[in-house]
Amino acid sequence: MKTVQTCDLVSEIMMPKRFSPSCERNKQPIFDQLAIYFKHSQVVLEIGSGTGQHAVFFAPQMPHLNWHTSDMPENHASVSAWIAEFGSDNIAHPIEFTVGQDVWPCIEVDAVFTANTTHIMQPHEAQAMMAMVANNLPSGGVFCQYGPMIVNGDYSCDNDREFDESLQQRGFGGICDIQQLESWAKGMVLVAKIPMPANNFLLVWNK
Ligand SMILES: C[S@@+](CC[C@H](N)C(=O)[O-])C[C@H]1O[C@@H](n2cnc3c(N)ncnc32)[C@H](O)[C@@H]1O
Repeated sequence: MKTVQTCDLVSEIMMPKRFSPSCERNKQPIFDQLAIYFKHSQVVLEIGSGTGQHAVFFAPQMPHLNWHTSDMPENHASVSAWIAEFGSDNIAHPIEFTVGQDVWPCIEVDAVFTANTTHIMQPHEAQAMMAMVANNLPSGGVFCQYGPMIVNGDYSCDNDREFDESLQQRGFGGICDIQQLESWAKGMVLVAKIPMPANNFLLVWNK
């Protein structure tokens, strides 16, 4: 049974650096794909960096690019703490960016990454994220989007159905259908739909 990572975070009270067990589990399989799809990227914006674990795992292994973290302000201390301990020259401290509330960050990026944010966001925020990424990536830009997804109206497994119900009961937006994301991502083309461990997907979009 999946658990939402906001609950999954084992907060160390008074310690800014938080830890997500699921990040530790999924970071290598995600990296294996990013190494392919971000091979020619130069500047990446990560939306919803969470604890910061993904950024410090990915960026040092891709020294050809600059990685910009971002999230709501309450997560910045953890992201910065991970960067302070494990960061590299090509990771920037978090930008305040709440999708649905803030304007697109003032940096030119040619790639965007987000993990486990789409099902947490409210539907209007997920819609805004797809549109903003599509509007702000340059031609040839890449968007890698990881998380649970509904495919043609079907859950990947019974666990995802229960997970979705529990997300919505707790006030999160819930798992999106990939077709819905495509309708929101006008100007981008879904070029890969990669099955990942634990019934997740990595969606790769090209502008
Ligand atoms: C389940 S956590 C995932 C964190 C991290 N990406 C990971 O994979 O471990 C969801 C993240 O989405 C962020 N988030 C939720 N709604 C958001 C919004 N409207 N704009 C930006 N980030 C948002 C949360 O702050 C949180 O960091």
